[in-house]
Parts: sequence; structure tokens; C-alpha cells
Amino acid sequence: MNIILLGPPGAGKGTQATNLEERHSMLQLSTGDMLRETRKADTELGRQVADVMDSGALVSDEIVSAMIDAKLESMDDSIGAIFDGYPRTAAQAHSLDDILAKHGRKLDHVIELAVDEDALVDRITGRFTCANCGEGYHDRHKQTAESGVCDKCGSTDFKRRPDDNEETVRTRMQEYRAKTAPILPIYEERGIVTRVDGMASIDEVTAALDAILS
Ligand code: AP5
Ligand code: MG
Repeated sequence: MNIILLGPPGAGKGTQATNLEERHSMLQLSTGDMLRETRKADTELGRQVADVMDSGALVSDEIVSAMIDAKLESMDDSIGAIFDGYPRTAAQAHSLDDILAKHGRKLDHVIELAVDEDALVDRITGRFTCANCGEGYHDRHKQTAESGVCDKCGSTDFKRRPDDNEETVRTRMQEYRAKTAPILPIYEERGIVTRVDGMASIDEVTAALDAILS
């Protein structure tokens, strides 16, 4: 099974992809996470990617599609892919078709996480992750069980994303509206889009996704 999780910044793509990975035989392919790895490197590409991400604009189609192609190349055929944050433009949607065909895969579902944009700034500015294992949290919606200690690995080191400030979030949302939302009809024509209420609780959204995948 290969699925796309589609939704604006803060819709819950990453949170749900992680939950699905644990419950199904699937792997999260997040271009955002891959680009955050790329920007760590002290290279020209790393610096370019960091500048684009911090502005809230989109990185070039060629760079992200090449990353997805390389990931699928290295993946076992029996493991399903959860595309998180990819594709984000019509060009990427067409590249994904080619890449999937090349790897003998097909797209089963495009799941749109429908959210109220006003709530997203709150979700994003409250987000933090464990610096050691990457587990995601939120200041109000998903706190650690013990204050300041990661539930999963026990680390006391946490971090926040540099693009999680209100100004950049607004640009990221504009990019979503202008370039990503318009790709939905490509998949609607194929009859593979399901809409899920992304404003429900994290567990309720996971249950809705489980029902689609079962
Ligand atoms: P990316 O990392 O993909 O960011 P994004 O799309 O802006 O989405 P987020 O990761 O912010 O949100 P999410 O939907 O994953 O929400 P999450 O689950 O964390 O991309 C970053 C940048 O990289 C882009 O701006 C661009 O520059 C570049 N990029 C990436 N891919 C690209 C591509 N394909 N092409 C070109 N450029 C690309 O949830 C958010 C918070 O809310 C968390 O704290 C969580 O705990 C909480 N939460 C989640 N669900 C709920 C819920 N149901 N109720 C309450 N709280 C919730
Ligand atoms: Mg994410």
C-alpha cells in the first residue's frame, strides 16, 4: 500500500505518518525531514536549502523528486510508502507517477487532512520534538508525561524548528494554497481521495486512517 498524506503545515501529516508506521508495514517518506538532514551539511546545497526553508518557500521540484526516487530505490518492495509533504506541486505529482511506475508501485490512497487554518498557527508554534529520538510533542496538545523528559527515550533535550514562527508559517500556508491544494483534482479524477477531519483529536484521526487502510 502506498499513500499520500496531504494537508497544510500543521495538519498532522508527520504525527499521523509516525502512528501509521507503527501499526502497518509502512515507512514515512517526509521530504521535509530529508531536507532538514540536507541542511545540516556545511555544503552549498545545504545552505541553499536552509535559506529556502527558512523563508517558507518551496525547494525545487528536481531536488525533492530525486530524494523520493532514491528512498524508494533503497526500500524493500514489501514495505508501503507514506508520502508526507510530497508531492507539493503539479510537477512533483507527475514525477511521483513516473517514480512509482519505475519502482513497480501504485498509489492506493490520497488522504486529505482537512483543517481549520486558524488553528494551525497555534499547532505549529507549540510544536517541539525530542532532540535525541525525534518524537513529536506539543506545548498543549501532546505534552510529555513527565515534564521535560521524552516519553519514548528519556532524553531531556528538545528542539524547535527554525521555520516554526508565525511569519514563516503564513508563507508556508500561502504556498500550500497556491501550489499544493490545486493538485488534489489530479487524484480526485482517479477516485482515490478520502477526506479526514484533521481537527479531531490525534487518536481519532489515527482511527480514521486505520479504517481507510484496513
Ligand atoms: P515540512 O516539514 O513538510 O512541513 P509542513 O508541510 O509545513 O508541515 P509540518 O511538518 O509543519 O506539519 P505536519 O502536517 O507534519 O504537522 P505535525 O504532525 O508535525 O516542510 C518544511 C519545508 O521544507 C517547506 O516549507 C519547504 O520549504 C520544504 N519542503 C518540504 N517538502 C517539500 C516538497 N515536497 N517540495 C518543496 N519543498 C519542500 O503536527 C503539528 C503539531 O500539531 C504537532 O505539535 C502535533 O503534536 C500537533 N498535532 C497534530 N495533530 C493534531 C491534532 N489532531 N490535534 C491537536 N494537535 C495536533
Ligand atoms: Mg511534518
